[in-house]
Amino acid sequence: MMELELMDKVQFIYELALAKMELEGLSAQFEVTNSMRKFRLISGDQELLKKRAAYFKRINGLITDYEKLVQFNQTTSINQYLTHWIYPYKGKFHPQMIRALLNFIKVKEGDLVLDPFLGSGTTALESQVLGINSIGIDVSPVCILISKVKTQSIDVLDKIKEAKSEILKHNGKTLMNFDANPKELRGAIENIEDEKVRNFFLVAELIAHSDTSRRRRDFHESFSNNVEKMIKSVEDFKKAVNEVGIKLGNVKIEEGDSRNLKLKNNSVDGIITSPPYSIALDYVKNDAHSLEALGFDTKQIRERFIGVRGSNSERIELYNQDMMKSIEEMFRVLKPGKFCVIVVGDASYFGERIKTVDFTIDYATKNGFKLIKNIDKIIFGLYNVMQKENILIFQKP
Ligand SMILES: C[S@@+](CC[C@H](N)C(=O)[O-])C[C@H]1O[C@@H](n2cnc3c(N)ncnc32)[C@H](O)[C@@H]1O
Repeated sequence: MMELELMDKVQFIYELALAKMELEGLSAQFEVTNSMRKFRLISGDQELLKKRAAYFKRINGLITDYEKLVQFNQTTSINQYLTHWIYPYKGKFHPQMIRALLNFIKVKEGDLVLDPFLGSGTTALESQVLGINSIGIDVSPVCILISKVKTQSIDVLDKIKEAKSEILKHNGKTLMNFDANPKELRGAIENIEDEKVRNFFLVAELIAHSDTSRRRRDFHESFSNNVEKMIKSVEDFKKAVNEVGIKLGNVKIEEGDSRNLKLKNNSVDGIITSPPYSIALDYVKNDAHSLEALGFDTKQIRERFIGVRGSNSERIELYNQDMMKSIEEMFRVLKPGKFCVIVVGDASYFGERIKTVDFTIDYATKNGFKLIKNIDKIIFGLYNVMQKENILIFQKP
């Protein structure tokens, strides 16, 4: 019998649950040994497990692709490998969890996965490295930009490096030696012809704005540090693709509205997403510095965001209506028999608990979804208004 060895950092119950679930999704039969750290494979495709598993570091002594992949990391955080770290986005998914969920919902290479609340692009990047095609939708232009940069910069790495050192006809300066004026830097970035290259430098600029406003760092120093670190991460990504032997999936990222998806009925093979947790986090306020730096009017943009419209009880009512529409849309575009994973948590508002999880389950099942799993996931120190979130897995009959 073959041994499946869990990754060292697996320590929570939900992670063990996901480890078992991904094995099921990959059609493996297994037993868990006494220590809970070792699983024994009774039957299953060893090659497939080595290629796809998220919570295991070795399959019968062979190092998994994921264990190799996570070594390509420019940060000190184990979850921020490849380009995942780019931009400090609050409330993003653990990429490992997404990989395991992609396994559980049985999406294969070449299938199409949707995340209608894409945020910082975790589902898109994790699908991409598994060779799964994906569509990511978000209402926030900042999220669209970050997600594109994380997944598309690999296509233009050489051009990014060229642009970095090229004199951009701005008073004879290169992008890296605009010493004072952020506006002047923006002018130079906007002159870059290639959209993917331009986006890359725009995001480096946005992170610099965030560093300056939140951590009082020097703008220009932060910009050039970000550019260097981001380039290293894209180089890592490229190396990982070659060394691990990854076939990348196609990624489509579009600004849009989860309440009105521009997708055909029964057209996607899986959904993994996390909507705003009721009104727990004001996404517009949170990214205001970036939205403003990109020239957006945050008041206007608020009108399209779920969970930030209206005030007091009206805000919760509007959230519920918006989420009902979004759930209907997810049901409509998913192929029959396929799975929709919604990660959501309760929130509190003026001391009152808002039961977002129950609401989501109720409305999704009313719409025809069947709830097949509900996993509790503890969150540490993310928002002080919440201690746990739930991974809800629905199936469309
Ligand atoms: C919990 S976050 C998603 C985080 C994401 N899972 C990640 O890993 O970064 C929820 C997202 O919903 C987006 N959103 C809010 N209203 C939306 C709408 N009407 N349509 C699409 N996205 C929306 C917000 O911009 C935010 O990025």
